[in-house]
Order: sequence, then structure tokens, then C-alpha cells
Amino acid sequence: MAAPDSSQDPAIRQAAQLLWKARYVMALTGAGISVESGIPPFRGPGGLWTKYGEPPMNGYQQFLDNPRRAWEERLNPTGPSEILRTTVASANPNPGHHALVAMEERGLLRYLITQNVDNLHRRAGSQNLLEIHGNSTLTRCLQCTSRYALADTPLDVLPPSCPQCHGMLKIDTVAFGEPIPPDVLAQCHQTTERCDCMMVIGTSATVYPAAWFPMQVRDRGGVLIEVNLYESELTPMCTVSLRGKAGDILPLLAQAVADLQSADA
Ligand code: APR
Repeated sequence: MAAPDSSQDPAIRQAAQLLWKARYVMALTGAGISVESGIPPFRGPGGLWTKYGEPPMNGYQQFLDNPRRAWEERLNPTGPSEILRTTVASANPNPGHHALVAMEERGLLRYLITQNVDNLHRRAGSQNLLEIHGNSTLTRCLQCTSRYALADTPLDVLPPSCPQCHGMLKIDTVAFGEPIPPDVLAQCHQTTERCDCMMVIGTSATVYPAAWFPMQVRDRGGVLIEVNLYESELTPMCTVSLRGKAGDILPLLAQAVADLQSADA
């Protein structure tokens, strides 16, 4: 499938117009944006859960029942967790991540909510970033929610303790069954309430509460622009659905909006 040319593709031009006219643009990203960085998705073709089955929904309870074993398993992962850990460790941001940074730097993209724990948006340079499922390079205190770099966290005693309040540290990634950290969730709601145009990029939109945010935007009269290789749960609700790889489409979309902005300047 040849990548569409921004000036030629009417769908890209329509999406660029919608972004340019919007007052408060946001993006929601999922595993699909990191596939071109070598990290497999979870569902659909090539998905980890498709291949290995969905993980148990009580991951968080398992952590609370035996934090030391959970940490040992985290530090010596097997199966899909090991694939995730090694692919994340060797991954780099791709043109899709960089295009969102360019949109933020041009003042178009206000906030980015990501479901990804791979740290690639941060490494690409995204600033207004909300990591709703946490970040695999960080630890988080379950008592005071302070976060620390995993690389700086002493692991001689497991589970490690919070240097500030001595609470128990967990990897920052949100386990199945774990509540979304309230600080991040509150910011996701606050920013989404202002949003009138949301790009939904590389997500199957099957996991909540993340999948709610685009629906809230749409329900309040806002528009959704989808970028996905295949149809998703959200496709019928989107004003424009761009079919293709995020790393191909997002740079073209960023350029098309930039052209409109400079033509207007
Ligand atoms: N470009 C754009 N979209 C892509 C690409 C690509 N190169 N490759 C795959 N996709 C799309 C797929 O079509 C699919 O719709 O990305 C989506 C990936 O969906 P999932 O694997 O379900 O990932 P995601 O939506 O992020 O999952 C949500 O589920 O397992 C949990 O915590 C995990 O954060 C994750 C959450």
C-alpha cells in the first residue's frame, strides 16, 4: 500500500482542515504507534495477547499478595512479558512519535494521552504527555505516588521502598485490575473536557477508561480523526479515518497542517 501524499490525499487534507480549525487539539495513542519501532501490538495481527492469550485480570492483586515475587518476575520476565521488555529496551521513537512532537511545538497539539508504557513519546520530546498506563522505566510509590527512575532505584531489597515516605515501590506500569493513578486520571479528564478535536492513533479502543475519552469528545460535539492500519471500535464515530501506518501518515498530516498554518500567517 503506497503511503498517501499529503497534498494529493483528500482525506489527509480534510483531517488537516479539521485540526487547523479546532480550538483544543489532543491525541490518544496506543500500541500501534510503536509497532514501527519494533514493539508488537497486543491485539489483532501480530498481537502479543492474540498469540499468548490475554494476561490474568488480577495482576495487581497478585502484586499485593506477594510484592517480592512480583518484583522478581518483573526483573526476570518470561513469555510475552520478556518479549515486551526486550523490544521496548531496544526501541527508538519513529516518525509518528516525532510528528506529534512537531505538532506540539507548532502549538497545535495541546495534550497527548498515551496508553503505551514504552517511554517513546517522552524520548521523542513530547512535553504535555499523560501516560495513563504508566511508564516502564519508572517506579511509583503506592503510598505517596512519587515516581522515580527504575535505573536509580536500589533493588538489593525487594520490594524497594520509597526514599520519601518509605512506602512500597511498584513498577509505574498499571497492572490489570489496578486503579489508574488519580493524578494522571484527573489530568486526562480535565484536558479532555476542553478538547474539540482528538486524533485517535494506533489503538483498538477496547480498554477503559482510555477508550472513553474520544467518546466524551464526540458526545460533546467534537470531532475524531483516526489513524489506524485497520478499522477499530471507534471508526464509526470518527469524522475522518486514515488507513495506514502511523509512521507514514502522521508526518504527512503534520506537514499538511503546517502548510495551512503558514498559508494563514
Ligand atoms: N500504525 C497504525 N496503527 C497500527 C499499526 C501501525 N503501524 N499497527 C497496528 N495498528 C493498530 C491496530 O490495528 C490496532 O487497532 O493499533 C491497534 C493496536 O491495538 P492494541 O494492540 O489493542 O493496543 P492498545 O489499543 O494500545 O491496547 C490498549 O491494552 O493490553 C492493554 O495495557 C495494554 O495499553 C494497552 C491497552
